[in-house]
Amino acid sequence: MSTEGRIAILSGGGDCPGINAVIRAVAKKAILEHNLEVIGVEDGYEGIIRNRHRKLSFADVSGIISMGGTILGTSNTANPYRYTSLKNGQLEIEDVSQIAIANVKKLGVDCLVCIGGDGTLSIANSLFKEGIPIVGIPKTIDNDLRGTDVTFGFDSAVFVATEGIDRLRTTAQSHHRVMIMEVMGRNAGWIALHSGVAGGGDMILIPEIPYNINVIAEQVKERSKSGKRFSLIVVSEGARAKDGNIVVQRIVKESTDPIRYGGVGFVLGAKIEELTGIETRTVVLGHLQRGGVPTPFDRVLATRLGTKAVDMIDKKAYGYMVGISCNSLVEVPLEEVAKGQRTVPLNDPLVRAARSVGTCLGDCL
Ligand code: F6P
Repeated sequence: MSTEGRIAILSGGGDCPGINAVIRAVAKKAILEHNLEVIGVEDGYEGIIRNRHRKLSFADVSGIISMGGTILGTSNTANPYRYTSLKNGQLEIEDVSQIAIANVKKLGVDCLVCIGGDGTLSIANSLFKEGIPIVGIPKTIDNDLRGTDVTFGFDSAVFVATEGIDRLRTTAQSHHRVMIMEVMGRNAGWIALHSGVAGGGDMILIPEIPYNINVIAEQVKERSKSGKRFSLIVVSEGARAKDGNIVVQRIVKESTDPIRYGGVGFVLGAKIEELTGIETRTVVLGHLQRGGVPTPFDRVLATRLGTKAVDMIDKKAYGYMVGISCNSLVEVPLEEVAKGQRTVPLNDPLVRAARSVGTCLGDCL
């Protein structure tokens, strides 16, 4: 039987649990209900620029709902508008967007489905404005996308981070130490806030609330005096002291977001030891938060978003991302998504709840 159209799908940016679940949802519904041919683009926009793609059959996307990563591969450096390649040993940046656009046109697709975070979806918005029919699907462990209350990958990351805190608690208690766990999230403190609350962290430090090191040291000493001879601190990689700077681990020049945070936990640990005399250890959770199987919540969310994306393709709602608002599926203009990141509001209900149960957020005791 001949197909009634063709779509392509790509995953861009950092991987996260749930991408395969969403690829499966899009492809299965597109094939089953709309008789569409589905093309999987390899390694995000790299596959568009380099013409690397393959047909995805129903069997190809069967049995992948629980798999972490992405069967298509991804890239957080391939940006058609700032494409970086090595030429004569030098990194060269060029605009290859017209090649990318011509390649999508050659593919003959009715729609390009872009699964990504703010970088990938901002690029998607630019491609859309140049005439490529696009539907976006939000993904990121950071949960920092505008236009959606939640992204898949976030719950899985919080699950891993919460387990990390649970494990650190017993060793912190036994050794009467301060244990610091540094989590990802870039400029947004969602992972630290949610895992810190779920794991009962004594202090939660997020980028949105610059911390006062004296407040933290006081809190540690207070706990020690009151008989709690250990403290658990969850710090977001993007957090910084009131009078300090963000701690940068490396610069990835070719990336859409070149700064890689990392190391604030060690800076903080050294300062706490100096001010309190209490032994302090730091654990950086790193990419463990991005690997492994998606939680049931993320699998369900990915399935809801993926199937809704196909409805949007069907009615030609191009230039939009599917999002979640108050647990309902919504269509959000890519233009709105591209406006910036969604950080934790200072009056977020969970910020208030954390304070209410006595958790120190680093700004006051
Ligand atoms: O955006 C997802 C994320 O995991 C951030 O939380 C983190 O800062 C960054 O990506 C790490 O990127 P990379 O995988 O390039 O080290």
